Amino acid sequence: MNEVQIIGTGSYAPLNIMTNKQLSEIVETSDEWIISRTGIKQRHISQGENTSDLATEAALEALKDANIKAEDIDLIILASTSPDQFVPATACIVQGNIGAVNAMAFDISAACTGFIFGLNIAMQFLKTGNRKRALIIGAEVLSKIVDWTDRNTCILFGDGAGAAVLEAGSTRGVISVDSASEGQKSHFLTCPTVDVKNTFTSGNEDFKATISMDGKEIFKFAVNTIVKSINKILTDNNYTLEDIKYVVCHQANFRIIDFVVKRLKADKNKFFVNLDKYGNTSAASIAIALDEMNKTNLLTVGDKIILVGFGGGLTYGASLIEWTINK
Ligand code: UT7
Repeated sequence: MNEVQIIGTGSYAPLNIMTNKQLSEIVETSDEWIISRTGIKQRHISQGENTSDLATEAALEALKDANIKAEDIDLIILASTSPDQFVPATACIVQGNIGAVNAMAFDISAACTGFIFGLNIAMQFLKTGNRKRALIIGAEVLSKIVDWTDRNTCILFGDGAGAAVLEAGSTRGVISVDSASEGQKSHFLTCPTVDVKNTFTSGNEDFKATISMDGKEIFKFAVNTIVKSINKILTDNNYTLEDIKYVVCHQANFRIIDFVVKRLKADKNKFFVNLDKYGNTSAASIAIALDEMNKTNLLTVGDKIILVGFGGGLTYGASLIEWTINK
C-alpha cells in the first residue's frame, strides 16, 4: 500500500469584505452581538464570482505551492454546498479552467465536513495505487444561498475556497482519516435546491432555496462530535493530544472551539482560529485554515496536526496528518 502526503496548499477569498457593522444595516444585529456569540468580525462576500472561480484560484495556488503542473493531477474532488450548477460538476469546470486534462473530476456534498470527506475518498484512490496525485478543493459562495433577512444565519457565513494537493508515494503524511454521517438529524441544517413543480404538481408557495438551521442543535452536535472525533483518531493511532501541534476545527463559531478546549482540558493555543476574518465558509474553512498555517510558516516538517469537520448531513470526521512540506 502507498503512503499519502500533502505536497501543496492554496486558498482564495473574494476581495470584497463585509463587516459586522455593514450587516447591522441589513438585519437587526450588532458588531458586539456577533463577536460575543460567534467570534466573527468580518467575512468575504462575492461580487459576482461563482464557486468555480474561487475554486480555480485556490487550485492554481495549490499547484504552484506543490510545484507541479495541472497535467500531473489525475483526480479532482470538489466539496461544496453551493456548486455553480446541477450539471456539470463544479470540479469539472475547475478541471477545464486549470487544464488538468488527465484527471477524473467530481463533486461531493458533505456540507462543512466536505474537505474531510474529500480527503477520505482521495485516500482510497491513492492508497490502492489507482491514482497518483489528487487535488482536493473545498469551495463555497454561500452568499448566494443565504437568507439575507434571517439574522440567525446570515451573520455566520462567508465565501471562499481552499485546496490541497495529495501525492501517493513512500512518505507518510496523511496518517489517518475517519468520517461519518447521522442522516437521522439531517433536518437540523438544510438548503433546498428547486421545488418539485411539474405538470402533476404546482409546488409549494413558501418554497425558499436558502439555508435554514437549528443553531442550538448544531452547536451541541458540533461540540460532541469534535470531542468524539479527536479522541477516536488519537486512540486509533496511539497518540495523545500532547503529541499534536495544532487542531484545526471547521471554523464555525469561536464558542464551539472554546467548549471543545474546555471539555478536552486542552491548551487553547493548540486550536487554530481564523474564523474572525472569514466567518463560516463551510467546506472551504479547514482548507483555508490549513493554507494560512502553511503560508505563515506555522508548521514544520514532522508536526502532527488534526483536522476536524462537522456540519450539514449531519456529517463529521477528522484526519491526523504529519506535516511534510519543507519550506
Ligand atoms: O457549519 C455548521 C453551521 N452551523 C453552526 O455552526 C451553527 C452552530 N450554532 C451557533 O453558532 C449558535 O447557535 C448561533 C450563533 C447560531 C446562535 O447563538 P446562540 O447563542 O445559540 O443564540 P440563540 O439562537 O439562543 O439566540 C439568543 C438570542 C435570541 O433572542 P431572545 O429569544 O433571547 O430574545 C435571538 O433572537 O439572540 C437573538 N439573536 C440575535 N440577536 C442579535 C439571534 N441572532 C441574532 C443576531 N443579532 N444576529
